[in-house]
Amino acid sequence: MRYTPFIETQFPLARLSAESYKERKANVGQTLTGLGKWWGRKPLILVRAALLGLLMPASDKPERDREIFYKILTMDEDGLWRRKTKALGASGIAQSLKPKEYAGRIEVKAGKAAWVSGEMTEQKEALEKLAFARLPYEEKLTYCCRPEEIEGPSAKAWDEINAHLGTQAHSLQELFAELSEKAFGHRARVGDCFCGGGSVPFEAARLGLEAYGSDLNPVAVLLTWGAINLIGGGKDVQEEVRKAQEAVWHKVDEQITAWGIEHDGQGNRADAYLYCVEARCPATGLWVPLAPSWVISEKYRVVAVLRRNDERQGYDIDIVTGASDAQMKAAQKGTVQKSALVDPEDPSRTYPIASLRGDRRGPNGETIYGLRLWEKEDLVPRPDDVFQERLYCVRWVTPEGERIYKAVTEADLERERKVLELLQERFAEWQEKGYIPSKKISEGAETSRLFRERGWTHWHHLFNPRQLLVHGLFCSQLEKYESTSIRSALLFGIGKLANWNSKLIQYGVGGSGTSFSQTFSNQALNTFFNYGSKGLKLLYESWFYNILEINEIIKSNTTILPQDAHNIAIYADLWITDPPYADAVNYHELADFFLAWYEKHLPKLFPDWYADSRAALAVRGADEDFKKSMVDIYSNLARHMSDDGLQLVMFTHQDAGVWADLGMILWAAGLQVTAAWTIGTETSSGLKEGNYVQGTVCMVLRKRLGERRAWLDELYPQVEDEVKRQLDSMKTIDDNLQPQFGDTDYQLAAYAAALRVLTGFSSIEDMDIRHELFRARKKNEESEFEKIIDRAVSIATNYRVPQGISPYTWRNLEAIERLYLSGLELERHGEARQGAYQELARGFGVAEYKFMLADSEANHARFRTPNEFKRMYLSATQNGNDRGTASFAASLLRQILFAIHEAARTENPKEGLNYLKAERPDYWTRREDIINLLEYLAAGRSLSSLVHWKHDAEAAGLLAGLVRNDYVGSR
Ligand SMILES: C[S@@+](CC[C@H](N)C(=O)[O-])C[C@H]1O[C@@H](n2cnc3c(N)ncnc32)[C@H](O)[C@@H]1O
Repeated sequence: MRYTPFIETQFPLARLSAESYKERKANVGQTLTGLGKWWGRKPLILVRAALLGLLMPASDKPERDREIFYKILTMDEDGLWRRKTKALGASGIAQSLKPKEYAGRIEVKAGKAAWVSGEMTEQKEALEKLAFARLPYEEKLTYCCRPEEIEGPSAKAWDEINAHLGTQAHSLQELFAELSEKAFGHRARVGDCFCGGGSVPFEAARLGLEAYGSDLNPVAVLLTWGAINLIGGGKDVQEEVRKAQEAVWHKVDEQITAWGIEHDGQGNRADAYLYCVEARCPATGLWVPLAPSWVISEKYRVVAVLRRNDERQGYDIDIVTGASDAQMKAAQKGTVQKSALVDPEDPSRTYPIASLRGDRRGPNGETIYGLRLWEKEDLVPRPDDVFQERLYCVRWVTPEGERIYKAVTEADLERERKVLELLQERFAEWQEKGYIPSKKISEGAETSRLFRERGWTHWHHLFNPRQLLVHGLFCSQLEKYESTSIRSALLFGIGKLANWNSKLIQYGVGGSGTSFSQTFSNQALNTFFNYGSKGLKLLYESWFYNILEINEIIKSNTTILPQDAHNIAIYADLWITDPPYADAVNYHELADFFLAWYEKHLPKLFPDWYADSRAALAVRGADEDFKKSMVDIYSNLARHMSDDGLQLVMFTHQDAGVWADLGMILWAAGLQVTAAWTIGTETSSGLKEGNYVQGTVCMVLRKRLGERRAWLDELYPQVEDEVKRQLDSMKTIDDNLQPQFGDTDYQLAAYAAALRVLTGFSSIEDMDIRHELFRARKKNEESEFEKIIDRAVSIATNYRVPQGISPYTWRNLEAIERLYLSGLELERHGEARQGAYQELARGFGVAEYKFMLADSEANHARFRTPNEFKRMYLSATQNGNDRGTASFAASLLRQILFAIHEAARTENPKEGLNYLKAERPDYWTRREDIINLLEYLAAGRSLSSLVHWKHDAEAAGLLAGLVRNDYVGSR
């Protein structure tokens, strides 16, 4: 081993989490997302930090290492100041500093701050700098751009960096070249065989390293290729692309205008079309237009009103602008409610949509679809289909730019017929040439609903004739361009049009209630009864999507290709991967939506690539096949790295089990875990809105060299030592700096420590890990390996004494009592995920704990307060007599909680004291514990956010006082 990389010794989680979160929150402003949709892209700053952490050697001065690490990433004070793009201004400064610090320069009147006139610029800057320095890191970021948006450290910072690392760099590229030269003797090659949207190869290439990126899915590979060659291609490429986009746009516009399919002949042009599905009402036999709501615009009070028309055996649809309150209210209740058709003639009559479709169960319990499945040449429903489709409103834009919503006229229908005719004339040729999709939809977990809910069987069925005609027009222009860059850029445009203009688009979203969603507003293919379709003008942003300019032109050696990760044949010094592990994203199914538009263009653009999704080879699930597949892939990667090489495996932290499994897989693949860190990608403010706090776990791995065997009896003490060492070192950081780690970080670190010890051995006793991983086990049977990992967690959980509880008291407590108290800590830290409580219970080895939860909703978990427990679970026979509740009922803590409740209920702490003394024969021997627990509950709970604890905490405080004064002499 030539060096110990920084990331094996430390990784600054708090700042990195804040930076990752900032990047994620930039939405469309993120560097790579503009090119097109991919699910689960990793933040670039995380990749940059990981690369640096892997290449930068740790010294014997960890504090200095950390400072230098921050400097390189411009996450130090100087770097942040350079990244500052927004001024705090007088009011920001007044908030951050004390009045005496800005006295005479800023005046605050009636809550408003302003500069005293005549203030010198330098003085302003000095105050600004001081105020900025005082802000917490996360707040500083609100004034800053991202690290990637500036050129890197300042000249002064480079001097310090070079002095510490023994380098002579003046740019990030030079630094990474020098560091990799020192580490591997050449420019490091970074590989990612699950490259997805391309974060890893892009960031590696931008830092001047050699990059290899592959993914099973060609859509992902195209995105990665585009990231490097378009975003990293520099101004010239981007200007050429822009010109081509403009030329194509004008061509399409000309043709649409010539056909007259968007113009009404009176100077107005349509920019939005609203369509809905119709179905026959079983009671009246009338065709009922379907929509969950008939409000078209809340803001402009536009609604659709159904008017019965027996002649058409259905309803006319009027559009009312400036609707009355009554009309608005009536429109809110649509004709589809709770997945059932509501008969407009008698809203008490409802018919489940599934029964209208005719879905039924087959002999083996399978669902038999009731809808007719569409044939390839179907572009609209056939007259005898259960579901028809209908245009019900057109939004026109006048020459003055005013938007008007109108009912559908005969002329509109004529234009619709013309669109269909134009498409039909071209349909076969365009499918043949790949201007529009022709691909069949493969049925899968996500796509089967398209068959079931609409009868759609081919990808072009997800678009109406107008959308197909317009998108096809765009696509027909691609071949005019020779350059791969331009053609790929235009192809991304086609992908964007598809995502933003399909039948899977909801109209009426956004603040104004008049915007359109995208097809992939989540990781699913949702069908809607009514949807919005765009006229050309509204496609502008999709077509002229943002290719962000970055500071550097990428000139590194890169290899990007579609490839099954099992077959990697290239060597890399660093493999950084983010496998499709335990995430519910069906990449291969979702990406087919885009591939259907790309498939005939890709082979021409990239003759060496394949252009299908190879769904059968996709790694997914969590079963035996999946494990085997993962072991094979990572064994292969281990073979394709040098003995000095390193790997970093990233995945989203869900629960401990998931990643313990992954640890075993990597172990079986011949790798040794050397460190693991979790970077948060949501902040606590996200939690308040009810989001999950999600972290990305980064596991650092090396190749396991040689054969080492361990015996269980020597393994446990080693694991124990390693876990304690790890937790102590984290605690030191927490105590010295501002707290960096949360409860789950500690738990994770314990797993990592256990894995570090375990994965250093190739066999334990006589068990072979590979064999053990795949050995058929009985349900709930734990393997020896899992037992060791569980033991590590139990060491960690027990080792973490909540602040305010003495180690002595802690030692005297039962597991269930410790669990309750640690649960309060979780709550205090804002952790409300059910899973976190479950993990904690697992750590303490407590199977029955749910009875202690006051709220067991997934995102609102917390334990009951004394007042919420009242008399529950106070004696072993109450509320069931199982072991879990019995051990709680018998515990000192339970009686303390009841005593608090009594004290609060009667407003007399003496009552609580009497209760305790009567019920606890060991009152005198456990008096210290009682005081300690009461004081903890009084102080620890008195946080303003925990209002439900207020009364009980006060009572606990008073009771604690009584017990403290109740010494033997006072009896
Ligand atoms: C979590 S994503 C990676 C995201 C990526 N790190 C990024 O930042 O965009 C996992 C990827 O694994 C790919 N994948 C699934 N099975 C594969 C296989 N057998 N070989 C290669 N890639 C595969 C999926 O297509 C998906 O893009």
